[in-house]
This record gives sequence, C-alpha cells and structure tokens, in this order.
Amino acid sequence: MVHDWHEWHRAYDQPGSPLWQRLEKVRSCIGDALTAAPPGPIQVISMCAGQARDLLGVLAGHARAGDVHGRLVELDPDLAADARENASARIDVLVADAGLSDAYEGAVPADLVLACGVFGNISAEDTRHAIESLPMLCAPGAKVIWTRTRRPPDFTPQIRSWFADASFEELTFVTAPHTSFGVGMHRFDGTPLPFRPHVRFFDFVGYGVLSLDTVCVQCGFEYHMARSEITQWLRSDSAAFVARFDEVAEHARVRPAPEVWSPLEYACHVRDVLRVQRARVEQAQHEEEPAFAPMGRDERAINDRYNDQDPAVVRGELLAAAEDLASYLDALDNAGWRRAGIYNYPEPQPRTVEWIGVHTVHELRHHRGDIGTLA
Ligand SMILES: C[S@@+](CC[C@H](N)C(=O)[O-])C[C@H]1O[C@@H](n2cnc3c(N)ncnc32)[C@H](O)[C@@H]1O
Repeated sequence: MVHDWHEWHRAYDQPGSPLWQRLEKVRSCIGDALTAAPPGPIQVISMCAGQARDLLGVLAGHARAGDVHGRLVELDPDLAADARENASARIDVLVADAGLSDAYEGAVPADLVLACGVFGNISAEDTRHAIESLPMLCAPGAKVIWTRTRRPPDFTPQIRSWFADASFEELTFVTAPHTSFGVGMHRFDGTPLPFRPHVRFFDFVGYGVLSLDTVCVQCGFEYHMARSEITQWLRSDSAAFVARFDEVAEHARVRPAPEVWSPLEYACHVRDVLRVQRARVEQAQHEEEPAFAPMGRDERAINDRYNDQDPAVVRGELLAAAEDLASYLDALDNAGWRRAGIYNYPEPQPRTVEWIGVHTVHELRHHRGDIGTLA
C-alpha cells in the first residue's frame, strides 16, 4: 500500500511524540550547523523534504536565515506545496525523485545536506550507496544531518561506519530516552566528486515494504514500534484524538450516515477500548494466558447510550483512561511486557502485552481518522 505521508507528518503536531522529539533534535543540529557556517551564503539541500518542518522551523528564528539558499526535493506535490508556502524565495522546492542526482542539478555543492526520514525507507545497500555518493553533492566541510530508527536490528552503527569510510567525521549522534530514533551529524572532510546527472542514489521503497510487520489496510497503521515508544504514542495520540474531537464538536452527535458512528460514539468507544485494554494487561499479569472477554463493541454503544453521553465528560474520561493505561505499562518490567493472553482480534490467538499496547495506539489513530471527515 502507499504510505500516507500526510498523516505521518501530523505526529509532529503531537508534543512529546517520538517524532516531535526527533524534530527537536534535528532542528538543534541544523541550528548548530548554520551558526558555525563561515560568513556568506549557505547552500542547503534536503532529500525527501516532506513539509520541511526541520529546516524551515529553524530558519523562522535564526540569525543566518538570510544567508540560506537551496533546494528541497519532495515527491508528493501537496507536501511540497506546504513547504513552498513557508520557504523564502531563496529556497526552491522541487517535486522530484530525491533518489536521482538530477534533482540536485544546479543546487550543489551544498554546505548542508539533510537526509531525514530517508535511510529507514531505503534498503541497506541503497543506504551505503547513497552515503558513498554524498561527496558528489557536498562542498568541502559540508555537514550532513540524517536520521534512522534504532529499532532492532539497530542499523545506525553500520551507517556511522559507512560515513567514516566515505571521509565523514562524526560531529554528533543523538537520541532521546525511551525513543527509537537516532539523529547524526557528520562533516565532510574528503575531496568532493564531480557532479554527474542520471546517477541513482537510492530507490525510496518505504519502511512498510522493508519491514515484515502487518499493516492496517484501511488506515495504513504499521505494527512496528519500539516498546519504549508505546506509552509516548498512547499519550500523544490520545491528545491528538481529543483535539480532533474538539474540532468536530458542533457535530459531535451527528452520524454521517445511518450506519456510521458519530464522533461522540467513536470517542466513547475509544475511551472504553482504553479501559478494557488496561484491564486486559492487568489480567495477563495475574493469570496464565487468559482468554480475554470480548468487549462487546456494538452492544456497549447501545446499552451505554453512547450518543447521549456528555462530550466534555467523555473527553476527560478518554484522556484519563489513556494515562491510566500508559502509567500501568510504564511500570512493567520486561517479563510483564512479554506476558500474553488470548486475544480475539482478528482471530483468537495469543498476544503479548506489548502487542496490546501497539494495537491500542492503532485504535486511537484509526478512529481519529474515522471522525476526521466530518469537520
Ligand atoms: C519519512 S518522510 C520525511 C520527511 C522529512 N524529511 C522529515 O523528516 O520530516 C519521507 C518523505 O519522503 C517523501 N518521498 C517518498 N519517496 C520520495 C522520492 N522518491 N523522492 C522524494 N521524496 C520522496 C515522502 O512523500 C515523505 O514526505
């Protein structure tokens, strides 16, 4: 399936989410690189730039912003348009394949190269090839800022050694506690290679293709998430859910079609899912592979008169239920996360507490999308 990169970017708006934390680190590296740049123009390129929240977020308040020129390369025209809207006239936004050297013609050699959200979406072989090709894009002393998940098997040590092999000196490699991302900044100390058009650096295939995890065919959610990130996503996604719920407050009780739940009914459902999951993970701690009782999704909506409940109360209960589940999970040790029970979805099978945590993040995101079309 095609990954929804628009939805992916929305996690940047969830303060505290791992992606939000990654953005903070990347911005800090960009700020440092700009501050350290010698006087004069600073040429920047960004591969797979998305909305370019990293660079443009820094330029909004940096003393060297007026010196920055460059090119952002992004394949998705809508994301590129978002970037263009916030970019100065000195920065052009190109809708093109960032894996091909042609996208950078006329915009290199660069003093700063951004490769954020790229290496986790291309094969190992392409990652090595892309790093080896960077001297074709870099001016002497150029800085390259890159990101890569460290989810097992952690590939970042390999990436760092490929940078070293290609004459890059590591300036920093950072992460954040309980997250899986890594952010690196390297300086090019080698001899630049002449630019050549029509060179393929990489094929962007997407992490969903690279991983063997399952994907929700409806919303695109991918069941791969570091254990340490699960409770952070539970908190930030529950906050994002109620934010979307607030946006549709006027229609909270309106069903878009007779058979489709109203936002309020979805919010009640999500609150109850959080509560039920909390009970299940606790049950799994005390019983040997218990068979979880079905939650009775549709019956609850009728018996508990979901659509007659008070939206403000439901909103608060949902956040409290998310926090309750997240705190309970935070307190578990390794053995606790690995305990399991028989889960009925999509068909009865043993599921670990860890899987239940990831699946609950999926519930939050999936149903946020369900109420998103009403605004
Ligand atoms: C993981 S996001 C990273 C976005 C941005 N660099 C960031 O870190 O916030 C990957 C981006 O690559 C874009 N993309 C996918 N294939 C591409 C390609 N062949 N060339 C350029 N961009 C591509 C996607 O549309 C998406 O915006």
